[in-house]
Amino acid sequence: MRQSPRLISLDQVDSTNDEVRRRRAAGEPAPFWVRAARQSAGRGRRGRAWVSEPGNLYASGLYELAAPTGEIAQLTFAAALAAAEVAQASAPGAAVRLKWPNDVLVEGRKAAGVLLESRSLARGAELVVGVGVNLQSAPDDVERPAVALADIAGAAPLSPEVAADWLVDSFERWRWIWAGDGFAEIRDAWLARATGLGDRVTARLAEHDIVGTFVDLDEDGALVLETAAGLRRVRAGEVFFGEKGAMS
Ligand code: BTN
Repeated sequence: MRQSPRLISLDQVDSTNDEVRRRRAAGEPAPFWVRAARQSAGRGRRGRAWVSEPGNLYASGLYELAAPTGEIAQLTFAAALAAAEVAQASAPGAAVRLKWPNDVLVEGRKAAGVLLESRSLARGAELVVGVGVNLQSAPDDVERPAVALADIAGAAPLSPEVAADWLVDSFERWRWIWAGDGFAEIRDAWLARATGLGDRVTARLAEHDIVGTFVDLDEDGALVLETAAGLRRVRAGEVFFGEKGAMS
């Protein structure tokens, strides 16, 4: 029988992503998870701060895996699925969707995010997967509208403690599927919840924008866009729906 990784609950840390790394360096056996009631320096993707008031879920898992870092990046989609399942359990009637690469949208607004950090080890790689879910509160952000599950009609948000158990169980389930059968099932489940499939999308890359129709997610987790110049794969960047970059 599979053993669930240890889940350590703390009151406050700077960032749970940093805390798991420190604990691993101090000898905590991988895999394990840390949940904190609040973070003083929570971070999001693209160098943004992640506001971390008490009442929400802030948790990170640390894994040491035999696969190379490129393949391990596929687990970002497993983490997004696990976060979506926590959101769906908190708001059973709500439309819970995934926005590439790993945002969770509830009723069209961001309710959870995933920050995956990995590095190569002598053999395999270390993966830190950090997940934040807005159970009780969400930051005011006009550019990137966010929502708390507590504000969704009919929702009954899980407590952070119960949400952490759900998250770890769900991520573990997806991770074992991935370890046994590869990325296909995760990819299918992610696409089934994807927002904007078949719609016009603007992908903002470092040097330029690509506009196209979102048609697929490839084996490497790249967003596949059908453009006037043929199929283009987007591996990193920010995605907006519509031609002009109106965020949704
Ligand atoms: C995003 O920008 O969407 C990713 C947000 C990830 C936030 C979580 S909260 C737990 C973990 N610790 C952090 O500092 N960040 C992640």
